Amino acid sequence: MRVALLGCGTVGSAVARRLQDRGERYADLLGRPLELVGVAVRDSSAPREGVDPALLTTDAESLVGRADVVVEVMGGIEPARSLIEQALRGGAQVVTANKQLVAQQGEELHAVADQHEVGLDYEAAVMAAVPVLAVLRDSLAGDEVTSVRGVVNGSTNYVLDLVAREGVPFAEAVRQAGELGYLEADPTEDLEGLDAAAKAVILARTAFGVRVGLGEVDRIGITGLTDDDFAHAAQRGSVIKLVASARPAGDGVSVSVRPEVLPAHDPLAAVQGGTNIVVIEAVSAGELRLQGAGAGGDETASAVLGDIVRAARRVR
Ligand code: NAP
Ligand code: HSE
Repeated sequence: MRVALLGCGTVGSAVARRLQDRGERYADLLGRPLELVGVAVRDSSAPREGVDPALLTTDAESLVGRADVVVEVMGGIEPARSLIEQALRGGAQVVTANKQLVAQQGEELHAVADQHEVGLDYEAAVMAAVPVLAVLRDSLAGDEVTSVRGVVNGSTNYVLDLVAREGVPFAEAVRQAGELGYLEADPTEDLEGLDAAAKAVILARTAFGVRVGLGEVDRIGITGLTDDDFAHAAQRGSVIKLVASARPAGDGVSVSVRPEVLPAHDPLAAVQGGTNIVVIEAVSAGELRLQGAGAGGDETASAVLGDIVRAARRVR
């Protein structure tokens, strides 16, 4: 089974290493080996620890043409979108961790996947290691989800937690998060709630099976918060969290991302640092809580590898 990897950064390099380390395990699981046939990057001369340099290529299009499973971990909209579409049209299974692409183009890409009878999976795009999409899509398929609510952006939670627990001024906490590399290359992705909005859209579609776009998210980021807001919340024994939520509304769904003042007993209030949490309410299951690492190379690779195994099982 030929696997092509598009991208070899934080996530891609972890996926490549695990595909190599766990080769025997995957061969036993699938009945045939998963062969990494190439890794597309921008700079094929840069060394990549634990990745065979002979696998590196800058010709992503040719690589896509010779794989059964294409794994996109490049990020961005183009050329990721075109390469995924090429893969689907060519009959390959596709796995991606690209939340913005799935939020913006997921419905169109699913249509192409359905037309060509192949799969498109993206568990890693929402809450990285936490298997929330599988729970919503598979485990709760026979139930009726009534609400999904969570802290799904680790960087902003790190900032908010630093202010709440250590009394660091808000602007200084943002500065420290940037210095530690916790914020995206474009920090507005995190701070203005764009990253959380993309994840909320994917959660809403998966939970409620509705068409919903990024433009329909009622979104407020954390940049408008002041030290006074944090002081008032603390006086009331509460904390401020950036909350993403989705629930049915009329024929559609209401999706929002905004800072909320939460009482200490709220399950979202206790989540610390870069950790993510989601609380799902379903008619028969009641309340379910899923919590864990929402970022990180190896943690995100866990979800990507799960999708690769799922995709490989579909390859005839
Ligand atoms: P990254 O470290 O910036 O790595 C991106 C990789 O893609 C690099 O190897 C880069 O090549 C390659 N690349 C970018 N544009 C390319 C192009 N046009 N052609 C060929 N290769 C190209 O990114 P990352 O953190 O691994 O994230 C990858 C994806 O996973 C993103 O969609 C991100 O949102 C998602 N994700 C990440 C995390 C996380 O914790 N990092 C968590 C959840 C989801 P060079 O190395 O040559 O520059
Ligand atoms: N910037 C994102 C976050 C990375 O902080 O959650 C993982 O999607």
